[in-house]
Amino acid sequence: MNSDRSISERIVTVFGGTGFLGRRIVRRLLEKDFTVRAVSRHPDQVAARFSSDTRAPEAVRADILDPASVALAVAGSKTVVNAVSLYVEHGNRTFERVHVTAAADLAAASRNSSVEQFIHISGIGSDPRSESSYIRARGRGEQAVASTFPGVIIRPSVMTGPDDTFLTTLVRLIRVLPVYPLFGNGGTRLQPVYVGDVAEAIGHLIDRNGAGGSSIFEFGGPRVFTYEELVRDIARQLDVKIRPLPIPFEVWNVLARVAEFLPAVPLTRNQIDLMRHDNVAALDLPGLKELDIEPHNIDEVIRAIAQANK
Ligand SMILES: NC(=O)c1ccc[n+]([C@@H]2O[C@H](COP(=O)([O-])OP(=O)(O)OC[C@H]3O[C@@H](n4cnc5c(N)ncnc54)[C@H](OP(=O)(O)O)[C@@H]3O)[C@@H](O)[C@H]2O)c1
Repeated sequence: MNSDRSISERIVTVFGGTGFLGRRIVRRLLEKDFTVRAVSRHPDQVAARFSSDTRAPEAVRADILDPASVALAVAGSKTVVNAVSLYVEHGNRTFERVHVTAAADLAAASRNSSVEQFIHISGIGSDPRSESSYIRARGRGEQAVASTFPGVIIRPSVMTGPDDTFLTTLVRLIRVLPVYPLFGNGGTRLQPVYVGDVAEAIGHLIDRNGAGGSSIFEFGGPRVFTYEELVRDIARQLDVKIRPLPIPFEVWNVLARVAEFLPAVPLTRNQIDLMRHDNVAALDLPGLKELDIEPHNIDEVIRAIAQANK
């Protein structure tokens, strides 16, 4: 067991520390008294994100695509977490560049800097052989990271929380649309997980300084829904009548292609690709239960989002 003093001297550097998941990881680690660096391309964003918190992390400017800034950011860290995301490609910021090459470069910089623990956030369904460039890059990224710095790979299902995009969009649309468009026949199975539970689990792994060597964790919530069941469940909670309407994936792909040109991208092709396959935690991989975490009921999260978006 670490003494309080050795914990506070343990530097954890979180790439993506301003993001939806990353800032929860940062908060959880600060609560546990670690010294935390939140890495961002815009360090002023770190101050803004944590302005109402009692403790703020150290803000570090780095771009995962810039090796010099990455080396400086990881120097002296005991643990490095990669929670960087890219959902839409722009110029040289491709899925391959960010999720494979840059993730492996970050792992290599961590190894060269004598970091003891590397935690890489990926996602359920990552597959190096997928036809989807996004899912393939996530799978290849896991392989590249594991062969560079064998550590912990975290695959969450879709994450939910008060400021998420997934459930918030569903709640808003279900309130206004009398006919609700489903992805395909709405039969894809999902296991939404509360983002705070994922951050808590990562906090546990850092606290325990590892998971006994290299390992893959899959984190899902307490209930598996088909997409249609989830839509109906939310409508019931909102006391709204809806008529679900199956829409073929080919139609969604065309819509996403157009949507990706909009300034605030409401729908992306990788989201459509992810919705083609079940997104449920594997029973033969460790998950929240193995870390003694009782996952939050998603109905509570839906109620909070519905309340906040009245
Ligand atoms: N959200 C979900 O439901 C979900 C589900 C499964 C898996 N995941 C995975 O979980 C991880 C975190 O996702 P999220 O939804 O929390 O992401 P997010 O909210 O979109 O945050 C993305 C983070 O990445 C940072 N970032 C982006 N490009 C960067 C770059 N070039 N250099 C340095 N930092 C960069 C951003 O920092 P700045 O903009 O401040 O630089 C931001 O902190 C990702 O790997 C994602 O694929 C997410």
